[in-house]
Amino acid sequence: MAEYQTNLQIDSERLWASIHETAKFGATPKGGVKRLTLGTEDKHVRDWFCTACRAAGCEVHIDALGSIFAVRPGRDRSKLPIGIGSHLDTQPTGGKYDGVLGTLAALEVIHTLNRLDIETEAPICLVNWTNEEGSRFAPAVMGSAAYAGLYSTQDILARQDIDGVTVGDALDAIRYRGSEPVGALKLGAFVEVHIEQGPLLEAESKTIGVVDRGQGVIWYDGSIVGASAHTGTTPMNHRRDALAALSELVLSVERIALEYGPRAVGTIGECRIAEPSRNVIAGDVRFTMECRSAEIEVLDELDRRIRKSAADIAGRRRVGIQLEAIWRKDPTPFDPRIVDTIEAAAARLGYSRRRITSGAVHDAFNLALVMPAGMIFVPCKDGISHNELEEASQVHCTAGANVLLHTVLSLAGVASR
Ligand code: HGY
Ligand code: MN
Ligand code: MN
Repeated sequence: MAEYQTNLQIDSERLWASIHETAKFGATPKGGVKRLTLGTEDKHVRDWFCTACRAAGCEVHIDALGSIFAVRPGRDRSKLPIGIGSHLDTQPTGGKYDGVLGTLAALEVIHTLNRLDIETEAPICLVNWTNEEGSRFAPAVMGSAAYAGLYSTQDILARQDIDGVTVGDALDAIRYRGSEPVGALKLGAFVEVHIEQGPLLEAESKTIGVVDRGQGVIWYDGSIVGASAHTGTTPMNHRRDALAALSELVLSVERIALEYGPRAVGTIGECRIAEPSRNVIAGDVRFTMECRSAEIEVLDELDRRIRKSAADIAGRRRVGIQLEAIWRKDPTPFDPRIVDTIEAAAARLGYSRRRITSGAVHDAFNLALVMPAGMIFVPCKDGISHNELEEASQVHCTAGANVLLHTVLSLAGVASR
């Protein structure tokens, strides 16, 4: 296998331009991006991505759940491709970098290999995973979870959004229900670049986060049923107020998570009052909740304590509280060989770096179940993400893509001339 210069770098301007070009698909007035999975804006960015991959000489494959795989051939076709990429869907109040950086850094790696006329031993496969965010359709990291065999394609196709639209309908509406079976295109490894979405790297002035594990998470759908009643005539001690009960549960989840310091987080992120009215006591409230920890014992304890708190609140307030755990991902360790390869690439390039745990779930967590996988983090401003103010610097985005380039060259090997 040929050696390659340690100073190879991607084209920073081209990467930066591509990030801002794709940000126009779903651009919001506040400077963010709203590009919910399988919607019209997602179609536009998918079309852009497929065109760019084909123009870069890749063969594009689309699986039955719309995940896009763009393969750059290698010298040895018997070797499994090295997978690189992330996701192009966003949260409703998303930013320009979450998922996009990892997907476009992967494309930039391909452009750079083409520019330098480097042939790798193993093929390289860019991936845009369907529905990483899980905001429109649950669960999150959906396409990569099905790829890893955690769900059947039929199960996922039937999942519905809040309006009753199924994943299958949405795929057909944007014409991204591919012909290839989910999981058919085998990968030898997967590496994902992502913004940290937290404050640590920036606080420590580190350029690269070498991710060695990821937090576990449990998602819940919840309902609270009390009794709707007249706000003017119902005495306070006669009420079965579902919204007051939820408010108490919100603060209880916060209090329980705070007891574990940095080892846990807990959130109730959305709620809906059935038939809300200012002069009706809420009798029926639906909500979603999640808790996370990098330690499985803490994750289980959070689950137990939150359920007990909900039962206490229900008893005291004479309401019914139902909690259904709809998704669970245990804490994920990444492959030490991949982690070391990423760290060596960052060191070779002279970037400041630290090992780090991922607070967010990523597609790489699912890939880590079925192949060697790892992640490269770069800082984002004030650690803000899932927010239209999300920002990252061109220097840091470029550093992440450079580390990806060198990691891929190490994993795929460079064919000697
Ligand atoms: O929720 C997550 O951790 C990811 O951002 N979808
Ligand atoms: Mn993401
Ligand atoms: Mn996200």
